[in-house]
Amino acid sequence: MPKQRILSGVQPTGNLHIGNYLGAIRNWVENQVNYENFFCVVDLHALTAPHNPNELAEHTRRTAALYIACGIDPQQSTIFVQSHISAHAELTWLLNCITPLNWLERMIQFKEKAIKQGENVNAGLLDYPVLMASDILLYQADLVPVGEDQKQHLELTRDIVVRFNDQFGSDRDVPILKLPEPLIRKEGARVMSLTDGTSKMSKSDPSEMSRIHLLDDADTIAKKIKRCKTDTIRELEFDNPDRPECHNLLSLYAILSGKTKEAVQAECADMRGWGDFKPLLAETVINSLQPIQTKYYEVVNEKGYLDRVLKAGREKAGAIAFETLKQVKSALGFLLP
Ligand code: AMP
Ligand code: TRP
Repeated sequence: MPKQRILSGVQPTGNLHIGNYLGAIRNWVENQVNYENFFCVVDLHALTAPHNPNELAEHTRRTAALYIACGIDPQQSTIFVQSHISAHAELTWLLNCITPLNWLERMIQFKEKAIKQGENVNAGLLDYPVLMASDILLYQADLVPVGEDQKQHLELTRDIVVRFNDQFGSDRDVPILKLPEPLIRKEGARVMSLTDGTSKMSKSDPSEMSRIHLLDDADTIAKKIKRCKTDTIRELEFDNPDRPECHNLLSLYAILSGKTKEAVQAECADMRGWGDFKPLLAETVINSLQPIQTKYYEVVNEKGYLDRVLKAGREKAGAIAFETLKQVKSALGFLLP
């Protein structure tokens, strides 16, 4: 049996944080030997929010280096940059023309970001999920590992596939586009902000204190955890809807220490509240990120290494992407050159 194919990506906007790691990248790493993997740095998506052209290339490199630092093995997985393969933009146009506008207007992330970005809402922000669908469909991916927030975009991708295959490939034995499945792990799927336990940890939150970056040094991590929002109740518990910060911090500790919820609950029962817990959480976060940081600096300091990885990725991914694009164009009736 050939291995099932995985595709996923992260935007190179700002710095990756532990939400990106626990919700997405860590799951890619753990499962990478079981699948054929494609991991892309989705730089075209970064233009949907105001961006700084002086930083885009550097953030793209940093994100790719962090994939490797987190444990993605370039021998095992294909790592590439979305904008290096023009088929992503081209398939987006073709799929735009079969995607009803009201499907896009329904997207929760669009509505949320549109409110946040105020005057700065470009057509790309609305179109963002079609570009994401193109990323996935070009590679005929079976599975898409993402955090909970991307579930609706995956459903839209599936709707596009059904519509496309129905309208343009109903006479085929093998569907032109493969129907992908989301792969959403329960734990870590939604890491919440350190300053507000009801909103998710996000790169776009104006406060640096709301998130822990993968490259934060030990002092910064300790400071962020020391100052993070908690409450005045001494007992520490999971699952109390009135205490979202408490649930979030305990969950973070459980995931990063590899302990079960029950074990963490038992450990916390002996503590005298936040004063005991916070230093322990800080130490656990620092220790978990330390090997990632060491590897990151090795990767970026080895001259030419990252460029070679991205070039190989571009070649391998490009061959597959342009083949799918050709089939889509042929099904749509284009005069092929
Ligand atoms: P983004 O930062 O929007 O490019 O997201 C990249 C990946 O990280 C996606 O799979 C998201 O679902 C995931 N992700 C982003 N923020 C979080 C979070 N706070 N908790 C869990 N997963 C997240
Ligand atoms: N929209 C995703 C996010 O913000 C990033 C993304 C773009 C993606 N294209 C993708 C994720 C394809 C998985 C597959 O998290």
